[in-house]
Amino acid sequence: MNRVNPFQFGNIVSGEYFYNREDELLRIKQTLAGGNNVTLYAPRRYGKSSLVKKVLNELEKEGFTTI
Ligand SMILES: Nc1ncnc2c1ncn2[C@@H]1O[C@H](COP(=O)(O)OP(=O)(O)OP(=O)(O)O)[C@@H](O)[C@H]1O
Ligand SMILES: [Mg+2]
Repeated sequence: MNRVNPFQFGNIVSGEYFYNREDELLRIKQTLAGGNNVTLYAPRRYGKSSLVKKVLNELEKEGFTTI
């Protein structure tokens, strides 16, 4: 682990490297849990994949089956 720079660059981030996005996380989770679809779009490298991965992980912990 790099102890000087607290950020990780390049790949999908998770765990301690994933910061904030609390509002988006809640909104996407509530939408999916309600049986609705979500389209997530943003410029490159804005954190879409990391956010999706976090959402799916949290929904799994809450008992949903995700793919
Ligand atoms: N929640 C976050 N906390 C900290 N860093 C983040 C976060 N989300 C993204 N990053 C940073 O942005 C980079 C790109 O994230 P990610 O691959 O999730 O974006 P993306 O929108 O899916 O990119 P692409 O358009 O290339 O698919 C990560 O490597 C990381 O450095
Ligand atoms: Mg991506």
